[in-house]
Amino acid sequence: MNNIQIKDLIKHQKINHSLDRPFYVNDKIFDLDIKNIFSKQWVFVGHTSRIPNIGDYFLFDIGNESMIIIRDKENIIHAHYNVCRHRGSHICLETEGNKKLLLCPYHAWSFNLDGTIKSARLMEEDFNKDEWSLHKCNLKVFEGLIFINLSENPCDFEEFIEPTRKYIEFHELGKAKIAFRKIYPTDGNWKLALDNFHECYHCQPSHPEYCSVHDPEYILSYGAGSGTGPASEKFNKILNEWNEKVKKLGHLTGEYAEKEFNKYSRSAERTPLKKGKFTETKKGKPIAKLMGKFKEYDRGYTSVGTSPFNSLLMCNDFATLFTFIPKSTLQTDVELIWLVHKDAKEGKDYDLSEMIWMWDETTKADKRIIEDNQKGVLSSKYMPGPLSQMEKGLEKFKSWYLKHLELALD
Ligand code: FES
Ligand SMILES: [Fe+2]
Repeated sequence: MNNIQIKDLIKHQKINHSLDRPFYVNDKIFDLDIKNIFSKQWVFVGHTSRIPNIGDYFLFDIGNESMIIIRDKENIIHAHYNVCRHRGSHICLETEGNKKLLLCPYHAWSFNLDGTIKSARLMEEDFNKDEWSLHKCNLKVFEGLIFINLSENPCDFEEFIEPTRKYIEFHELGKAKIAFRKIYPTDGNWKLALDNFHECYHCQPSHPEYCSVHDPEYILSYGAGSGTGPASEKFNKILNEWNEKVKKLGHLTGEYAEKEFNKYSRSAERTPLKKGKFTETKKGKPIAKLMGKFKEYDRGYTSVGTSPFNSLLMCNDFATLFTFIPKSTLQTDVELIWLVHKDAKEGKDYDLSEMIWMWDETTKADKRIIEDNQKGVLSSKYMPGPLSQMEKGLEKFKSWYLKHLELALD
């Protein structure tokens, strides 16, 4: 498939239908997606508490790229390309660990934690070390979240984070720590994973756990602020009453949704959980220390999408963070991180199994749904079907994606 054929295909996508098969199965389109969609976003790839000590690092791999996310001697976090400046070998081979020095396993060139070169054996006399630092990837830390951007000319981070800033700051994720981290390798194209995440049409048949803590009217209007389902008068009434109570507490209320899903496709909102539920657990009772600026439990649920590749779903006492990582045309890693207050102790201040229950069960179910969906999309009989009223979010995501892919082909 060449660019002209792909452009033509983009033009023929039907509104309010899922995409044609090539978008979910074609390797050329996948490569374009990584280069033009993923690489242009600020994506958070971890939390600073994963690398608390000098020399701690983890790898983040995307497409052909591998990034070393590492804390240097000055406590500054860097993202270095995991590519030796000698003849290109990967330097770090383990997915995480601690390094005093970044030593290439091939011919033993060594690099400091900040990426500058330390030594290169037996090189010619005119070898200038200053020219051979590791390549840097754009990185920003905001409220403990480590964002990277693979673009040569990244968009302004402050502009990118501004609309969702107050929601993230209210939960003070910079004062949190990782309680648990899990990757759900999913045999499906990244767009099938995100299609699924942008609608709650499937929630009732597939997610009894999710439905047990979220109001059915919220589920109907899913993402009330970002309008990904039909408006629900009943839910608006519940929301307005809750807003009044929460305002009195001095807590944050409100919503933000990028109207056009233009550059980033961002959204943020605070909504109440189902009646009687305080947090996203089986019993719905508080299970951990209050986080952030909350004075008391307000039954609120903060849902933030900084870009399509990240979601932050935050209760008063813990937060569940999602990163969608396209691994290959038919494989996506869905990485979940659960954050709690940095001083909270497992078993004393929080119960881990209760905390992870809802999103662990829900993400396992989503993995299955997405994989079954991918199998069907690979069949000769797949054709895009019509979307329901509850899949407006999917249509928004789809048109955002098509627009950006088309622009990249110009
Ligand atoms: S490739 Fe790294 S030292 Fe040669
Ligand atoms: Fe789901």
